[in-house]
Amino acid sequence: MELFVSEGNPHCLKVLAALEVTGVQCSVQYVNHEERVVPFLSRPTLPALLLPTGLHLFSSNAICRYLFEVSGQECSEFCNQWLEWEATDLQPALLQALYMAVLQGKGSEVSTVLQGPLKFLDQSLSKGGMPYLTGEAVSVADVVLWAALYPVLSDSSQALGEHKSVNGWFDRVASIHSCLSAAQKVLQGKGLQGMKSYMQRQPAPQSSQGRNTQPCNCNPIEGEEGERAFSEEELEAAILNWSKGLSTSPLATDRQHPILPQEGKRNILVTSALPYVNNVPHLGNIIGCVLSADVFSRYGRLRGWNLLFVCGTDEYGTATENKAREEGLTPQLICDKYHAVHSSIYKWFQIDFDFFGRTTTEKQTEIAQDIFWRLHKNGFLVEDTVEQLRCEQCQRFLADRFVEGICPHCKYPEARGDQCDKCGRLINAVELREPQCKVCRQTPVIRSSKHLFLDLPKLETQLEQWLEKSTSTGDWTTNAKQITRSWLRDGLKPRCITRDLLWGTPVPHPDFKEKVFYVWFDAPIGYLSITANYTDEWEKWWKNPHQVELYNFMAKDNVPFHSVVFPCSLLGAQDNYTLVSHLVATEYLNYEDTKFSKSRGVGVFGDMAKDTGIPADVWRFYLLYVRPEGQDSAFSWADMALKNNSELLNNLGNFINRAGMFVTKFFEGYVPVMELQQEDKKLLALVGWELQQYIQLMDKVKIRDALKHILNISRHGNQYIQVNEPWKNIKGGDTERQRAGTVTGVSVNIACLLSVMLMPYMPEVSQTIRNQLNAPQSCVSTMLQDNGTFVCSLCAGHRIGTVSPLFQKLEADQIEALKKRFGGQQPEDEPSKEKTPQSTASTQPAAVPAPAAAVEVVTVNGVDPEKAKQLTQAVAEQGDKVRALKAQNAEKTVITAEVAKLLDLKKQLALAEGKSPEPAPQKGKKKK
Ligand code: 2FM
Ligand code: ZN
Repeated sequence: MELFVSEGNPHCLKVLAALEVTGVQCSVQYVNHEERVVPFLSRPTLPALLLPTGLHLFSSNAICRYLFEVSGQECSEFCNQWLEWEATDLQPALLQALYMAVLQGKGSEVSTVLQGPLKFLDQSLSKGGMPYLTGEAVSVADVVLWAALYPVLSDSSQALGEHKSVNGWFDRVASIHSCLSAAQKVLQGKGLQGMKSYMQRQPAPQSSQGRNTQPCNCNPIEGEEGERAFSEEELEAAILNWSKGLSTSPLATDRQHPILPQEGKRNILVTSALPYVNNVPHLGNIIGCVLSADVFSRYGRLRGWNLLFVCGTDEYGTATENKAREEGLTPQLICDKYHAVHSSIYKWFQIDFDFFGRTTTEKQTEIAQDIFWRLHKNGFLVEDTVEQLRCEQCQRFLADRFVEGICPHCKYPEARGDQCDKCGRLINAVELREPQCKVCRQTPVIRSSKHLFLDLPKLETQLEQWLEKSTSTGDWTTNAKQITRSWLRDGLKPRCITRDLLWGTPVPHPDFKEKVFYVWFDAPIGYLSITANYTDEWEKWWKNPHQVELYNFMAKDNVPFHSVVFPCSLLGAQDNYTLVSHLVATEYLNYEDTKFSKSRGVGVFGDMAKDTGIPADVWRFYLLYVRPEGQDSAFSWADMALKNNSELLNNLGNFINRAGMFVTKFFEGYVPVMELQQEDKKLLALVGWELQQYIQLMDKVKIRDALKHILNISRHGNQYIQVNEPWKNIKGGDTERQRAGTVTGVSVNIACLLSVMLMPYMPEVSQTIRNQLNAPQSCVSTMLQDNGTFVCSLCAGHRIGTVSPLFQKLEADQIEALKKRFGGQQPEDEPSKEKTPQSTASTQPAAVPAPAAAVEVVTVNGVDPEKAKQLTQAVAEQGDKVRALKAQNAEKTVITAEVAKLLDLKKQLALAEGKSPEPAPQKGKKKK
């Protein structure tokens, strides 16, 4: 059983108290308030109890009742009645009281709100004449009510009046140590203030006797705009912020390299998992690693954090060697080629690395070997002889990706020698069933070889101590914590860190001089060596755990290496390394209803995105909108079009464009004078609130959730314009014209704020908006002031620039064509139904190039006749080569490599012709 709770959440206090009082065996996980523990609920809800059956309970009282029942204490009817009363009568009043006391500084009014329920409780207790609610012994009702009331009753500043029986009962329950201990855990000894962050995320309760204020752990959702109620104080605070204007000490926007940690600053080091150099990354790779890390880094810079973002290509290992064989190049040339491919893709997606390096450098050898020797010296390496697969035909050991077979755990037929892509389990190559050499498809034999192992069991205690601290103080995603826990639960085993390969960092030990480091020992060291290639003072980042916070971004399959194996290497090396503080792992992004697959030609890969004609910022927006945060998600063309047309075009773009156009058309391009009325003030407060939510979520790396608050703001803005109709008022008398001015001025300021909030997500659009509004550079410092406030940054009299639409509609036929092109679903021989010349191209005999006249039209759908022509030629030449080799009875490995090249060329040709790249079934192809 697993209980998920969050700090400062009063509902969690109840369940923790129940857990402690009953002593039921159950592990407790502290998560963020927005954690989606129960995946099928429309909103994040805590606490949640995961039952052994895999089912969930997610109402605090139901959880408490369950815990008592499991411990053998049945809940009587009387008890149930108290629980019902707590939920329907006490709880709404309590939430309102807490809201007033914690957020509004109106502690003095709490007693009025709680008077009714407390009186009822007092009378019941005194009438019953028993020490506890339902009798002589403590029941679940006592624990629930006590925990609910604890935050207010334990606060001595709350004058709640004399309720003698309540007070006696409260003290009696409080003397049960388990209850107080639970309260301490949830409120962290901060009393009511311990709940501030939780309360800030709650919608304002309605002040009627609490009838409609069911406990709800939600953020405002789409469509609920305008429903938040703000107190007079909140409105005043919003106006005060607004009128403060922009800070006089703006954010320094030019970065001075090298960026190094600074005393007194929040020093943040961001890494994104180093992509393998053997492939072109697909959208799933991009969102999981570099794009997420980029958004967070851009946000961090807006917050004024001293932040360094590094990444680079992961170049060693069998993946590279395989690719080199496939392409008939040396591993070094493959690395050079794909490093450049990755760089240009990330540049197109506007990933703003401070440094993008690679792992095949001298610094890598130097640092990896240093860590190795330290581990050796400290006694954390052990030697062992292992059985390995060896291909007699290819004359080499088959490590990792040189061998494939059936996964011994889940039976997936294409598991690799080091890991299964299906179940994610790590595999020892000899455990594979029906192994095959990846190059020649021969069955390998088993041979022995001596290797070095990292002694993880010896480091386990240290690791656990560190993990305990890092996962409780840092922002680790739930999947990262779960995966790590399951690794520890299974018990750590020594892990082999050497390989019988050529392409890798050499093992410096004389007894192992033919060997190289295993890529997963080597790769994370790449973070350090890449930083060392950026600055000689790299140790200021990497050997500085007290001054530096490290954020690692990755997809979930990379978690164990970053949370267990690599930290063990660093802990064992004992050189004061900076270990990860926040491990941010995404789930998987699927493509439509399947997986991305390079070999099947399914999905959009980084290099293809730019040929779609859809701007990089729109790609970024959509990928971030569906970021697999908390659960797998899918890229869908239809949905992308929908989100582009509804959210970007009709909502965000429309609002910003209207605001700017009103200034241009009605006020000759000058921001008009604003005289704020109640309605405007409410909007300021609402926008300020959305900004706060955005900041809180971004601080916790909830990138997808934070984006929704940007869209909420433009929705509020559109509604405000719609209701106030400046286009009508501008034609009226002085009062009406004044009103049109205020609405226009407020709107254009919201547009300016939106441009800043959009910066991490859509950097180019953000800059375009600021150019159109001629916004002062200092407006980007809005997230520095008082932790983020909505200020008037375009004052009356400010001259804006030229306004034009920001987004374009994605048309249905365009999307259909893209879907066909990337879906890999269009049958090869079925003539395309489209009326464009693409159909001609796709049915052309291979040797005949598409008619030149078709070029202009067909490139819209991704057909590239010029490229097709070159590829047709290349396919013909390669075909000749293969035939000649076969005729000469050349070595099988050579023929296989050339055939692979031929297939690849054919695939490229199919794509260039706008056809499905799915190859026709091959004779003698591996059986599956
Ligand atoms: O999974 C991958 O793509 C690996 N190349 C990630 C390495 S991350 C880090 F350790 F370098
Ligand atoms: Zn072989």
